[in-house]
Amino acid sequence: LRLFSGSANLQLSQEVARYLGMDLGPMIRKRFADGELYIQIQESIRGCDVYLIQPTCQPVNDHLMELLIMIDACRRASARQVTAVIPYYGYARADRKTAGRESITAKLVANLITQAGANRVLAMDLHSAQIQGYFDIPFDHVYGSPVILDYLVSKQLSDIVVVSPDVGGVARARAFAKKLGDAPLAIIDKRRQAHNVAEVMNVIGDVRGKTAVLVDDMIDTGGTISEGAKLLREEGARQVYACATHAVFSPPAVERLSLSGLFEEVIVTNTIPIPESNRFPQLVVLSVA
Ligand code: R5P
Repeated sequence: LRLFSGSANLQLSQEVARYLGMDLGPMIRKRFADGELYIQIQESIRGCDVYLIQPTCQPVNDHLMELLIMIDACRRASARQVTAVIPYYGYARADRKTAGRESITAKLVANLITQAGANRVLAMDLHSAQIQGYFDIPFDHVYGSPVILDYLVSKQLSDIVVVSPDVGGVARARAFAKKLGDAPLAIIDKRRQAHNVAEVMNVIGDVRGKTAVLVDDMIDTGGTISEGAKLLREEGARQVYACATHAVFSPPAVERLSLSGLFEEVIVTNTIPIPESNRFPQLVVLSVA
């Protein structure tokens, strides 16, 4: 078994390597003058079971291309099996056509990864679980929820209501609620007017006087979760915790999330690296290594 890391989240790869008691494999990665990427595996991997860790987070196009080049390099080096470990699967939100003449990028990315030569994929908290079916190779879909739930349980919160920030996230929120002692569920009815602009309409369920735990797969610009939290506060929630596996944190996420008095805590995992400049006092980062 050999483990290699792309450049997207070296710290997570190092933690995984430490957990497994092995070193990351040596790899040269450099850019040509025109911006093209060069990758060379620096040891023989002939006949090996190779794992490549690379979330396709921002800059998504660069990280995706890097992953494809790594896979191709490993195939051409006669690895027996190449597993793409993609803690955050970018381009996942376009998972179907919602208007004419659009691309389904989640499927396009699946085609590219398969075509590059991956034999197997492991990804965490896909935006929609059916993306697994866009691949005709084995796919392990794993979740950040065990580490987030362990953390929430350790806080011994009382009077919890688990809240889905939109109708699409109900199954995820229900699974959380079940693990939190069959907590009640509430749903935010959200209408989105344009990409990256969230508009919250109303809450279905009772949140008054309760500790609301908002659960989402990702926080991107923070619009969905912060508008949701404002509404929950207006509806009388006593405390609001936000949980998401993927901290995409595109601007102005940090300003929105760190607004004083909105969240008790914003709990995320390290599938995507979070630079120091994007950290704020309410942020809790858990490791999925
Ligand atoms: C939407 O369907 C997703 O599950 C997230 O709620 C959304 O992508 C978060 O984006 P933002 O933080 O920009 O509102």
